[in-house]
Amino acid sequence: MHTLLALALAASAAAEVPVLSAWEAESPLRPLPEAPLGVPADFGTLPFAVTPEKVRLGRWLFFDARLSADGTISCGSCHRPEHGFSEPTAHSRGIRGQEGGRKAPPILNAAFTIQHAYFWDGRAGSLAEQAKGPIANPIEMGSSHPAVAAAVGAVPGYRKAFREAFGDDQVGIDRIAEAIAAYEATRLSGNSRFDRFQAGDRTALSEEEQRGREIFFGRGRCDRCHGGAGFTDSRFHAIGVGTPGHFTARPGAAPDPGRQAVTGAEADRGAFRTPTLRDVSRRAPYMHDGSAATLFEAVRAYQFQAEGVALDPVMREIDITCPDVDALVAFLGALDGTGFEDRPPRHFPQ
Ligand code: HEC
Ligand code: HEC
Repeated sequence: MHTLLALALAASAAAEVPVLSAWEAESPLRPLPEAPLGVPADFGTLPFAVTPEKVRLGRWLFFDARLSADGTISCGSCHRPEHGFSEPTAHSRGIRGQEGGRKAPPILNAAFTIQHAYFWDGRAGSLAEQAKGPIANPIEMGSSHPAVAAAVGAVPGYRKAFREAFGDDQVGIDRIAEAIAAYEATRLSGNSRFDRFQAGDRTALSEEEQRGREIFFGRGRCDRCHGGAGFTDSRFHAIGVGTPGHFTARPGAAPDPGRQAVTGAEADRGAFRTPTLRDVSRRAPYMHDGSAATLFEAVRAYQFQAEGVALDPVMREIDITCPDVDALVAFLGALDGTGFEDRPPRHFPQ
Protein backbone atom coordinates (compact mmCIF):
# COMPACT_ATOMS: atom_id res chain seq x y z
CA MET A 1 0.00 0.00 0.00
CA HIS A 2 2.69 2.44 1.04
CA THR A 3 4.73 1.66 -2.02
CA LEU A 4 1.74 2.25 -4.24
CA LEU A 5 1.05 5.57 -2.63
CA ALA A 6 4.66 6.61 -2.99
CA LEU A 7 4.64 5.58 -6.64
CA ALA A 8 1.43 7.52 -7.29
CA LEU A 9 2.87 10.61 -5.64
CA ALA A 10 6.06 10.33 -7.60
CA ALA A 11 4.09 9.93 -10.84
CA SER A 12 1.92 12.96 -10.24
CA ALA A 13 4.95 15.07 -9.37
CA ALA A 14 6.68 13.94 -12.54
CA ALA A 15 3.73 14.63 -14.84
CA GLU A 16 3.73 18.34 -15.57
CA VAL A 17 0.46 19.31 -13.98
CA PRO A 18 0.21 23.08 -14.38
CA VAL A 19 -0.62 24.83 -11.14
CA LEU A 20 -3.93 26.62 -11.56
CA SER A 21 -4.29 30.06 -10.09
CA ALA A 22 -7.19 30.66 -7.71
CA TRP A 23 -9.30 32.36 -10.37
CA GLU A 24 -8.89 29.49 -12.81
CA ALA A 25 -9.46 26.84 -10.17
CA GLU A 26 -12.66 28.54 -8.98
CA SER A 27 -14.20 28.80 -12.45
CA PRO A 28 -13.51 25.63 -14.44
CA LEU A 29 -14.81 25.38 -18.00
CA ARG A 30 -18.36 24.10 -17.94
CA PRO A 31 -20.33 22.53 -20.78
CA LEU A 32 -23.06 24.72 -22.29
CA PRO A 33 -26.32 24.31 -20.35
CA GLU A 34 -29.10 22.03 -21.53
CA ALA A 35 -32.47 23.64 -22.14
CA PRO A 36 -34.59 23.48 -18.98
CA LEU A 37 -38.14 22.16 -19.43
CA GLY A 38 -40.29 24.64 -21.35
CA VAL A 39 -37.63 26.83 -22.98
CA PRO A 40 -35.41 26.34 -26.03
CA ALA A 41 -31.61 26.52 -25.81
CA ASP A 42 -30.80 27.22 -29.40
CA PHE A 43 -27.60 29.21 -29.25
CA GLY A 44 -27.41 28.96 -33.04
CA THR A 45 -29.77 31.94 -33.38
CA LEU A 46 -27.00 34.25 -32.15
CA PRO A 47 -24.74 35.86 -34.74
CA PHE A 48 -21.62 34.41 -33.08
CA ALA A 49 -20.54 31.05 -31.72
CA VAL A 50 -21.32 30.41 -28.07
CA THR A 51 -18.55 28.26 -26.57
CA PRO A 52 -17.67 27.26 -22.99
CA GLU A 53 -14.48 29.37 -23.22
CA LYS A 54 -16.42 32.47 -24.25
CA VAL A 55 -19.08 31.94 -21.61
CA ARG A 56 -16.47 31.58 -18.85
CA LEU A 57 -14.72 34.75 -20.00
CA GLY A 58 -18.05 36.58 -20.30
CA ARG A 59 -19.01 35.58 -16.78
CA TRP A 60 -15.84 37.10 -15.36
CA LEU A 61 -16.37 40.28 -17.34
CA PHE A 62 -20.04 40.45 -16.33
CA PHE A 63 -19.20 40.47 -12.63
CA ASP A 64 -15.91 42.40 -12.77
CA ALA A 65 -16.19 45.92 -11.32
CA ARG A 66 -12.86 46.84 -12.93
CA LEU A 67 -14.92 47.53 -16.07
CA SER A 68 -16.38 50.66 -14.46
CA ALA A 69 -14.69 54.05 -14.19
CA ASP A 70 -14.19 53.90 -10.42
CA GLY A 71 -14.00 50.13 -9.99
CA THR A 72 -17.25 49.90 -8.00
CA ILE A 73 -19.93 48.72 -10.46
CA SER A 74 -20.26 45.64 -12.64
CA CYS A 75 -23.10 44.47 -14.85
CA GLY A 76 -23.98 42.15 -11.98
CA SER A 77 -24.45 45.07 -9.56
CA CYS A 78 -27.73 45.93 -11.31
CA HIS A 79 -28.52 42.59 -12.95
CA ARG A 80 -28.34 40.44 -9.83
CA PRO A 81 -28.59 36.66 -10.11
CA GLU A 82 -30.73 36.32 -6.99
CA HIS A 83 -33.35 38.66 -8.48
CA GLY A 84 -33.57 36.85 -11.81
CA PHE A 85 -30.76 39.10 -13.09
CA SER A 86 -32.91 42.17 -12.46
CA GLU A 87 -32.85 44.31 -9.31
CA PRO A 88 -35.00 44.90 -6.23
CA THR A 89 -35.19 48.70 -6.70
CA ALA A 90 -37.25 51.01 -8.90
CA HIS A 91 -34.21 52.71 -10.40
CA SER A 92 -30.73 51.54 -11.15
CA ARG A 93 -27.91 52.98 -9.12
CA GLY A 94 -24.64 53.32 -11.01
CA ILE A 95 -21.21 54.71 -10.20
CA ARG A 96 -20.98 57.38 -7.50
CA GLY A 97 -24.56 56.52 -6.47
CA GLN A 98 -26.10 58.16 -9.54
CA GLU A 99 -29.63 57.07 -10.33
CA GLY A 100 -30.97 56.27 -13.76
CA GLY A 101 -34.62 56.72 -14.71
CA ARG A 102 -35.48 53.11 -15.44
CA LYS A 103 -35.35 49.73 -13.77
CA ALA A 104 -32.87 47.09 -14.92
CA PRO A 105 -34.85 44.40 -16.79
CA PRO A 106 -34.05 40.72 -16.22
CA ILE A 107 -31.69 39.24 -18.76
CA LEU A 108 -33.12 35.72 -18.50
CA ASN A 109 -33.61 33.76 -21.72
CA ALA A 110 -32.29 36.86 -23.49
CA ALA A 111 -31.15 35.00 -26.59
CA PHE A 112 -34.72 34.16 -27.55
CA THR A 113 -37.02 36.44 -25.55
CA ILE A 114 -35.53 39.66 -26.80
CA GLN A 115 -35.08 38.83 -30.41
CA HIS A 116 -34.99 42.12 -32.23
CA ALA A 117 -34.58 44.96 -29.85
CA TYR A 118 -33.02 45.46 -26.47
CA PHE A 119 -33.79 47.92 -23.67
CA TRP A 120 -37.26 49.00 -22.62
CA ASP A 121 -37.48 51.15 -25.76
CA GLY A 122 -35.65 48.78 -28.13
CA ARG A 123 -32.79 51.12 -29.00
CA ALA A 124 -30.13 48.38 -29.14
CA GLY A 125 -30.43 45.84 -31.95
CA SER A 126 -28.46 42.90 -30.60
CA LEU A 127 -27.33 41.37 -27.33
CA ALA A 128 -23.69 42.17 -28.09
CA GLU A 129 -24.44 45.74 -29.17
CA GLN A 130 -26.43 46.13 -25.98
CA ALA A 131 -23.53 45.11 -23.74
CA LYS A 132 -21.43 48.03 -24.97
CA GLY A 133 -24.03 50.57 -23.81
CA PRO A 134 -23.74 50.48 -20.03
CA ILE A 135 -19.92 50.51 -20.04
CA ALA A 136 -19.85 53.98 -21.59
CA ASN A 137 -23.07 55.23 -19.99
CA PRO A 138 -21.97 58.08 -17.66
CA ILE A 139 -24.52 57.08 -15.03
CA GLU A 140 -24.13 53.31 -15.15
CA MET A 141 -20.44 52.36 -15.41
CA GLY A 142 -19.03 55.67 -16.65
CA SER A 143 -16.02 54.33 -18.53
CA SER A 144 -15.13 54.50 -22.22
CA HIS A 145 -14.72 51.64 -24.65
CA PRO A 146 -10.98 52.23 -25.27
CA ALA A 147 -10.36 52.62 -21.52
CA VAL A 148 -12.12 49.36 -20.73
CA ALA A 149 -10.35 47.47 -23.50
CA ALA A 150 -7.02 48.79 -22.21
CA ALA A 151 -7.82 47.93 -18.59
CA VAL A 152 -8.90 44.40 -19.45
CA GLY A 153 -6.00 43.89 -21.87
CA ALA A 154 -3.52 44.91 -19.16
CA VAL A 155 -4.48 41.86 -17.07
CA PRO A 156 -2.37 38.84 -18.11
CA GLY A 157 -5.07 36.42 -16.94
CA TYR A 158 -7.63 38.08 -19.17
CA ARG A 159 -5.25 37.94 -22.16
CA LYS A 160 -4.98 34.20 -21.57
CA ALA A 161 -8.77 33.87 -21.37
CA PHE A 162 -9.19 35.87 -24.59
CA ARG A 163 -6.68 33.58 -26.31
CA GLU A 164 -8.71 30.56 -25.22
CA ALA A 165 -11.99 32.12 -26.30
CA PHE A 166 -10.99 33.86 -29.53
CA GLY A 167 -7.72 32.26 -30.66
CA ASP A 168 -5.46 35.24 -29.91
CA ASP A 169 -5.12 37.76 -27.12
CA GLN A 170 -6.39 40.87 -28.91
CA VAL A 171 -8.67 42.57 -26.41
CA GLY A 172 -11.24 44.94 -27.92
CA ILE A 173 -14.68 46.18 -27.04
CA ASP A 174 -16.37 43.96 -29.65
CA ARG A 175 -14.88 40.83 -28.16
CA ILE A 176 -15.68 41.99 -24.62
CA ALA A 177 -19.30 42.54 -25.67
CA GLU A 178 -19.48 39.20 -27.49
CA ALA A 179 -18.16 37.25 -24.51
CA ILE A 180 -20.60 38.98 -22.14
CA ALA A 181 -23.47 38.31 -24.56
CA ALA A 182 -22.44 34.62 -24.69
CA TYR A 183 -22.63 34.41 -20.90
CA GLU A 184 -26.01 36.16 -20.86
CA ALA A 185 -27.34 33.76 -23.49
CA THR A 186 -26.70 30.83 -21.15
CA ARG A 187 -28.88 32.27 -18.39
CA LEU A 188 -31.89 30.14 -19.20
CA SER A 189 -34.90 29.91 -16.94
CA GLY A 190 -37.44 27.11 -17.30
CA ASN A 191 -38.62 24.04 -15.43
CA SER A 192 -41.10 26.14 -13.45
CA ARG A 193 -44.20 24.60 -11.93
CA PHE A 194 -46.08 25.98 -14.94
CA ASP A 195 -43.75 24.11 -17.32
CA ARG A 196 -44.22 20.89 -15.36
CA PHE A 197 -48.00 21.36 -15.48
CA GLN A 198 -47.86 21.89 -19.24
CA ALA A 199 -45.74 18.75 -19.55
CA GLY A 200 -48.52 16.74 -17.94
CA ASP A 201 -47.95 16.94 -14.16
CA ARG A 202 -51.47 17.93 -13.06
CA THR A 203 -50.32 18.32 -9.43
CA ALA A 204 -47.79 21.02 -10.26
CA LEU A 205 -50.32 23.89 -9.93
CA SER A 206 -52.77 24.55 -7.08
CA GLU A 207 -56.43 25.12 -7.92
CA GLU A 208 -56.08 28.88 -7.53
CA GLU A 209 -53.04 28.85 -9.83
CA GLN A 210 -54.92 26.80 -12.40
CA ARG A 211 -57.74 29.34 -12.30
CA GLY A 212 -55.15 32.09 -12.82
CA ARG A 213 -53.73 30.17 -15.75
CA GLU A 214 -57.15 29.99 -17.40
CA ILE A 215 -57.70 33.73 -16.97
CA PHE A 216 -54.18 34.49 -18.20
CA PHE A 217 -54.74 32.63 -21.46
CA GLY A 218 -58.46 33.48 -21.60
CA ARG A 219 -60.42 36.63 -20.87
CA GLY A 220 -57.41 38.31 -19.25
CA ARG A 221 -55.82 38.42 -22.73
CA CYS A 222 -52.43 38.43 -20.98
CA ASP A 223 -50.90 36.02 -23.49
CA ARG A 224 -51.68 38.41 -26.35
CA CYS A 225 -48.53 40.26 -25.26
CA HIS A 226 -46.93 37.95 -22.68
CA GLY A 227 -47.10 34.91 -24.96
CA GLY A 228 -44.73 32.15 -26.05
CA ALA A 229 -42.05 30.28 -24.12
CA GLY A 230 -40.53 33.53 -22.84
CA PHE A 231 -43.87 35.09 -21.83
CA THR A 232 -43.20 38.09 -24.06
CA ASP A 233 -43.88 39.00 -27.70
CA SER A 234 -40.75 41.22 -27.73
CA ARG A 235 -42.92 44.07 -29.02
CA PHE A 236 -43.81 47.53 -27.79
CA HIS A 237 -47.13 48.42 -26.22
CA ALA A 238 -48.53 51.43 -24.42
CA ILE A 239 -50.33 50.07 -21.39
CA GLY A 240 -50.55 53.38 -19.55
CA VAL A 241 -47.78 52.99 -16.96
CA GLY A 242 -46.38 56.32 -15.80
CA THR A 243 -48.77 58.42 -17.87
CA PRO A 244 -50.79 61.12 -16.13
CA GLY A 245 -54.15 59.73 -15.10
CA HIS A 246 -52.88 56.20 -14.61
CA PHE A 247 -52.85 55.22 -10.99
CA THR A 248 -49.15 54.29 -11.13
CA ALA A 249 -48.15 57.81 -12.27
CA ARG A 250 -46.01 59.76 -9.83
CA PRO A 251 -47.17 63.32 -9.34
CA GLY A 252 -44.84 65.79 -11.02
CA ALA A 253 -42.75 63.15 -12.80
CA ALA A 254 -42.34 63.78 -16.55
CA PRO A 255 -43.76 60.82 -18.49
CA ASP A 256 -41.12 58.66 -20.16
CA PRO A 257 -41.76 58.72 -23.95
CA GLY A 258 -40.55 55.09 -24.22
CA ARG A 259 -40.42 53.71 -27.75
CA GLN A 260 -41.37 57.13 -29.18
CA ALA A 261 -37.89 58.44 -28.36
CA VAL A 262 -36.49 55.87 -30.81
CA THR A 263 -39.04 55.98 -33.66
CA GLY A 264 -40.45 59.50 -33.31
CA ALA A 265 -43.90 58.04 -34.03
CA GLU A 266 -46.84 59.43 -32.05
CA ALA A 267 -48.30 55.93 -31.88
CA ASP A 268 -45.25 54.81 -29.87
CA ARG A 269 -45.66 57.35 -27.10
CA GLY A 270 -45.42 55.60 -23.74
CA ALA A 271 -44.88 52.19 -25.35
CA PHE A 272 -42.38 49.82 -23.73
CA ARG A 273 -41.15 46.38 -24.64
CA THR A 274 -43.23 43.65 -23.02
CA PRO A 275 -41.13 42.18 -20.21
CA THR A 276 -40.90 38.43 -19.70
CA LEU A 277 -43.01 37.19 -16.80
CA ARG A 278 -40.70 34.32 -15.94
CA ASP A 279 -39.27 34.70 -12.43
CA VAL A 280 -41.36 37.84 -12.04
CA SER A 281 -41.90 37.22 -8.31
CA ARG A 282 -38.17 37.69 -7.70
CA ARG A 283 -37.92 41.27 -8.90
CA ALA A 284 -40.43 43.66 -7.32
CA PRO A 285 -41.02 46.57 -7.84
CA TYR A 286 -42.48 46.36 -11.34
CA MET A 287 -42.74 48.19 -14.65
CA HIS A 288 -40.06 50.25 -16.42
CA ASP A 289 -40.23 52.85 -13.66
CA GLY A 290 -40.73 50.48 -10.74
CA SER A 291 -44.02 52.24 -10.02
CA ALA A 292 -45.92 49.10 -9.01
CA ALA A 293 -44.59 47.99 -5.63
CA THR A 294 -46.04 44.49 -5.65
CA LEU A 295 -47.19 41.90 -8.13
CA PHE A 296 -50.73 42.56 -6.91
CA GLU A 297 -50.43 46.25 -7.80
CA ALA A 298 -48.90 45.44 -11.19
CA VAL A 299 -51.74 43.10 -12.12
CA ARG A 300 -54.46 45.30 -10.62
CA ALA A 301 -53.31 48.02 -13.03
CA TYR A 302 -54.92 45.98 -15.81
CA GLN A 303 -58.33 46.54 -14.22
CA PHE A 304 -58.02 50.27 -14.90
CA GLN A 305 -57.69 52.30 -18.07
CA ALA A 306 -55.64 55.47 -18.17
CA GLU A 307 -57.38 58.65 -19.22
CA GLY A 308 -56.16 60.41 -22.33
CA VAL A 309 -53.58 57.77 -23.18
CA ALA A 310 -53.47 56.06 -26.55
CA LEU A 311 -53.57 52.58 -25.13
CA ASP A 312 -52.83 49.43 -27.04
CA PRO A 313 -56.22 48.22 -28.39
CA VAL A 314 -55.81 44.81 -26.69
CA MET A 315 -56.02 46.62 -23.34
CA ARG A 316 -59.71 47.35 -23.98
CA GLU A 317 -60.42 43.62 -24.36
CA ILE A 318 -59.06 42.71 -20.94
CA ASP A 319 -61.92 41.65 -18.73
CA ILE A 320 -60.83 40.87 -15.18
CA THR A 321 -62.39 41.27 -11.74
CA CYS A 322 -60.85 41.71 -8.30
CA PRO A 323 -60.76 37.96 -7.47
CA ASP A 324 -59.20 37.36 -10.88
CA VAL A 325 -56.29 39.59 -9.88
CA ASP A 326 -55.55 37.31 -6.91
CA ALA A 327 -55.68 34.20 -9.09
CA LEU A 328 -53.40 35.81 -11.68
CA VAL A 329 -50.89 36.79 -9.00
CA ALA A 330 -50.91 33.20 -7.71
CA PHE A 331 -50.36 31.91 -11.23
CA LEU A 332 -47.45 34.28 -11.87
CA GLY A 333 -45.72 32.82 -8.80
CA ALA A 334 -45.69 29.46 -10.60
CA LEU A 335 -43.46 30.94 -13.31
CA ASP A 336 -40.38 30.93 -11.08
CA GLY A 337 -37.91 28.66 -12.80
CA THR A 338 -34.47 27.14 -12.53
CA GLY A 339 -31.44 26.91 -14.77
CA PHE A 340 -30.13 30.48 -14.60
CA GLU A 341 -28.77 30.49 -11.05
CA ASP A 342 -25.31 31.82 -10.50
CA ARG A 343 -23.33 33.88 -8.05
CA PRO A 344 -20.49 36.28 -8.69
CA PRO A 345 -17.07 34.61 -8.74
CA ARG A 346 -14.84 35.48 -5.77
CA HIS A 347 -11.67 35.51 -7.87
CA PHE A 348 -11.09 37.28 -11.18
CA PRO A 349 -8.30 36.98 -13.76
CA GLN A 350 -5.10 38.58 -12.49
C1 HEC B 1 -26.32 50.96 -13.08
C2 HEC B 1 -27.09 49.76 -13.35
C3 HEC B 1 -26.76 48.94 -14.57
C4 HEC B 1 -25.53 48.42 -14.94
C5 HEC B 1 -24.19 48.61 -14.24
C6 HEC B 1 -25.77 47.63 -16.12
N1 HEC B 1 -27.09 47.67 -16.45
FE1 HEC B 1 -27.97 46.64 -17.96
N2 HEC B 1 -29.63 47.71 -17.70
C7 HEC B 1 -29.86 48.64 -16.70
C8 HEC B 1 -31.09 49.37 -16.98
C9 HEC B 1 -31.69 50.47 -16.13
C10 HEC B 1 -31.59 48.86 -18.21
C11 HEC B 1 -32.83 49.32 -18.95
C12 HEC B 1 -32.41 50.59 -19.68
C13 HEC B 1 -33.41 51.05 -20.67
O1 HEC B 1 -34.25 50.29 -21.11
O2 HEC B 1 -33.33 52.23 -21.05
C14 HEC B 1 -30.66 47.80 -18.61
C15 HEC B 1 -30.83 47.00 -19.74
C16 HEC B 1 -30.02 45.92 -20.05
C17 HEC B 1 -30.31 44.90 -21.04
C18 HEC B 1 -31.53 44.84 -21.92
C19 HEC B 1 -32.52 43.89 -21.36
C20 HEC B 1 -33.80 44.00 -22.08
O3 HEC B 1 -34.76 43.36 -21.63
O4 HEC B 1 -33.88 44.69 -23.10
C21 HEC B 1 -29.26 44.02 -21.05
C22 HEC B 1 -29.11 42.77 -21.91
C23 HEC B 1 -28.30 44.52 -20.09
N3 HEC B 1 -28.80 45.66 -19.48
C24 HEC B 1 -27.05 43.98 -19.86
C25 HEC B 1 -26.05 44.65 -19.15
C26 HEC B 1 -24.62 44.35 -19.25
C27 HEC B 1 -24.01 43.27 -20.12
C28 HEC B 1 -23.99 45.19 -18.40
C29 HEC B 1 -22.50 45.32 -18.14
C30 HEC B 1 -21.66 45.60 -19.29
C31 HEC B 1 -25.02 46.01 -17.78
N4 HEC B 1 -26.25 45.67 -18.28
C32 HEC B 1 -24.77 46.96 -16.80
C33 HEC B 1 -29.06 48.83 -15.60
C34 HEC B 1 -27.72 48.48 -15.56
C1 HEC C 1 -51.09 45.03 -24.75
C2 HEC C 1 -50.01 44.19 -24.27
C3 HEC C 1 -50.11 43.63 -22.87
C4 HEC C 1 -51.13 42.89 -22.31
C5 HEC C 1 -52.45 42.47 -22.96
C6 HEC C 1 -50.71 42.57 -20.96
N1 HEC C 1 -49.48 43.09 -20.70
FE1 HEC C 1 -48.47 42.97 -18.98
N2 HEC C 1 -47.05 44.25 -19.70
C7 HEC C 1 -47.02 44.77 -20.97
C8 HEC C 1 -46.01 45.78 -21.06
C9 HEC C 1 -45.64 46.59 -22.29
C10 HEC C 1 -45.42 45.87 -19.78
C11 HEC C 1 -44.31 46.84 -19.34
C12 HEC C 1 -44.93 48.22 -19.16
C13 HEC C 1 -44.00 49.25 -18.59
O1 HEC C 1 -43.05 48.90 -17.91
O2 HEC C 1 -44.27 50.43 -18.79
C14 HEC C 1 -46.08 44.88 -18.96
C15 HEC C 1 -45.77 44.61 -17.62
C16 HEC C 1 -46.35 43.62 -16.87
C17 HEC C 1 -45.92 43.22 -15.55
C18 HEC C 1 -44.69 43.77 -14.82
C19 HEC C 1 -43.47 42.96 -15.21
C20 HEC C 1 -42.16 43.57 -14.80
O3 HEC C 1 -41.15 42.88 -14.93
O4 HEC C 1 -42.12 44.73 -14.37
C21 HEC C 1 -46.76 42.23 -15.12
C22 HEC C 1 -46.69 41.49 -13.80
C23 HEC C 1 -47.72 42.02 -16.17
N3 HEC C 1 -47.45 42.86 -17.21
C24 HEC C 1 -48.76 41.08 -16.11
C25 HEC C 1 -49.80 41.04 -17.04
C26 HEC C 1 -51.02 40.30 -16.84
C27 HEC C 1 -51.34 39.44 -15.63
C28 HEC C 1 -51.79 40.54 -17.95
C29 HEC C 1 -53.21 40.07 -18.22
C30 HEC C 1 -54.19 40.58 -17.29
C31 HEC C 1 -51.02 41.41 -18.83
N4 HEC C 1 -49.84 41.69 -18.25
C32 HEC C 1 -51.48 41.83 -20.07
C33 HEC C 1 -47.86 44.41 -22.00
C34 HEC C 1 -49.07 43.75 -21.84
